[in-house]
Amino acid sequence: MKKVLIAYFSLSGNTEKMAEFIAEGVRFTGNQAETRKISTLKTITDLNGYDGYIFGSPTYHLEMAEPFKTFLFLCRKADLACKPAGAFGSYTHTGNAPAQILDTMQYVFKMQPFELGSLKILERALANREALKACQDYGKVFGEKLGN
Ligand SMILES: Cc1cc2nc3c(=O)[nH]c(=O)nc-3n(C[C@H](O)[C@H](O)[C@H](O)COP(=O)(O)O)c2cc1C
Repeated sequence: MKKVLIAYFSLSGNTEKMAEFIAEGVRFTGNQAETRKISTLKTITDLNGYDGYIFGSPTYHLEMAEPFKTFLFLCRKADLACKPAGAFGSYTHTGNAPAQILDTMQYVFKMQPFELGSLKILERALANREALKACQDYGKVFGEKLGN
């Protein structure tokens, strides 16, 4: 069984909701998914030892949330090279954050970006089953790629 870390920041709960559904999708594949707020990940020991990483942040002021930038500086010191990487986040009009995060994972940490790219979901769509299924499917395909 492979282990996936789903680390996210969420101010008003929307990206958190995405994290939970992505985790469900990973679990459908028989793998383990751990959802953690980035505020609980303080050392590189908290980050090392997973088989895949999916990071989530909403977009604020055209960027990932400020605390997420600090979190990525911590990630820089962890052993993430070559590990599968995905990214997600909720938004209302531009939704830049997930792609920015996946870029950093690919080009700075030298991780393997998920072939489906990053996942951004409109905040208002999160009330719909299809959007939540899109999150589950994202986690499911990520988990399938990892194998067991
Ligand atoms: C001050 C502020 C700035 C925002 N800036 C953007 C933005 O630049 N682009 C965008 O798509 N959404 C923007 N949003 C909308 C949030 O991304 C959206 O509400 C999101 O669902 C919040 O996610 P969360 O509940 O996980 O914190 C902004 C929201 C606030 C309150």
